[in-house]
Amino acid sequence: MAAGSGSGFFAERKAPAVLKHALLAQYVAPFLGMTGSTSANGRVVFFDGYAGAGRYADGTPGSPLLAMATARKQLPNRILDCVFVEKDRKSFEALDKITQGFRAQGVRCAALHGSVEEHIESTIHRATGAPLFMFLDPFGVPLPYPTLVGAMTGQRSAVRPPTEVLLNLSDKAIRHIAGQLKSGAKDRSALPRLDIALGTWWRDTFLGTCNATGDTETAVQAVVDEYAVRLGRDTNSTVISVPVHTRKGHLPLYHLVFTTRSPYGVWVFADALAQAQREWRKVQFEEEGDEDQDSVLFKTDDLLAADEERLKAAGIAAIERNLLDLLERESSFRLLDHPYDIYGKTWLGLARETWVRQAIKNLNKRGLTSSDGVGPKIRDLRVERPRRHTPPAA
Ligand SMILES: C[S@@+](CC[C@H](N)C(=O)[O-])C[C@H]1O[C@@H](n2cnc3c(N)ncnc32)[C@H](O)[C@@H]1O
Repeated sequence: MAAGSGSGFFAERKAPAVLKHALLAQYVAPFLGMTGSTSANGRVVFFDGYAGAGRYADGTPGSPLLAMATARKQLPNRILDCVFVEKDRKSFEALDKITQGFRAQGVRCAALHGSVEEHIESTIHRATGAPLFMFLDPFGVPLPYPTLVGAMTGQRSAVRPPTEVLLNLSDKAIRHIAGQLKSGAKDRSALPRLDIALGTWWRDTFLGTCNATGDTETAVQAVVDEYAVRLGRDTNSTVISVPVHTRKGHLPLYHLVFTTRSPYGVWVFADALAQAQREWRKVQFEEEGDEDQDSVLFKTDDLLAADEERLKAAGIAAIERNLLDLLERESSFRLLDHPYDIYGKTWLGLARETWVRQAIKNLNKRGLTSSDGVGPKIRDLRVERPRRHTPPAA
């Protein structure tokens, strides 16, 4: 069956897609709100290069439907100009019908039949002078690296108008294709595909790590990490790479690789990711409950809520420690300028920004900062060392 046809991938949404879609839904709206404020007519271009059918057969929205719902919500102050590309004819036809419906409601959107490679250049042209967000979500290997970097540089090299990307980098595809590098492997036919998608460097990284550690999975992760480093360097972007699992404890199915050139992008994406992770945990929790009928009695919403509260308490405690460490080094700082120090590697994309506010309030109560954590935008809050009480001169 053709990939993307009705009863295949698009029959029903699987758990990993929950994270991907929640992230899109949480991030595209603020991206449109923020970047559209300085764009002509509030226009921002959204490019979904591997768009799929628009929605799953069970009715769950796919990425195009999520984008168009965001677009409709923010009209007329913001225009999310959506370009969807889909190669599979049947999926394209379904998608085209959905876009017609949204166009009738005033949403600017186009469904194009064909490949990303065919349509990316005209989309870049369409986005001239406007912020651009590209979502690239193939089944297997990513867009050829030179095409991707070309699309993000050249006329899109500057910090403004913003260019951001969220792409699906398949660990599964790398794992599978890298197996062909093993000595004695008869079939080596897929290797060139990965060379084009990543660059030939991946072979040395994979084999070098395999030789050094004896562990294939460590080698796959080394390739994923190196891809993120190179993409950041070659496009002058900050990269956040998020592993997506089918199940807790399973090997990652893919990484969502996000690029931005803005500190706002990092901050807002981290919070969107934390919200999306919560939705993913909820779905996991429900699926585990469905499967394990014996424990169904214990799989109550209260239990999930208790888990979430424990996570939040641990996150806030860690953030408090990180803020104090930062205050040792700087007498005063703005949150937006220090997301990595504030969240640390563990909590970036796991902790909500509201937890940071709570951490500041807790420190303030204990007299460890003079900042009260009050203010409309959390990312703009400043944190300061406590003011020393100097006794009046005698
Ligand atoms: C993982 S699915 C997309 C899911 C969709 N982004 C969503 O979240 O609802 C990948 C889609 O890309 C399409 N596709 C594969 N190769 C393509 C290419 N070179 N250009 C455009 N579409 C392609 C497939 O037919 C499939 O529908």
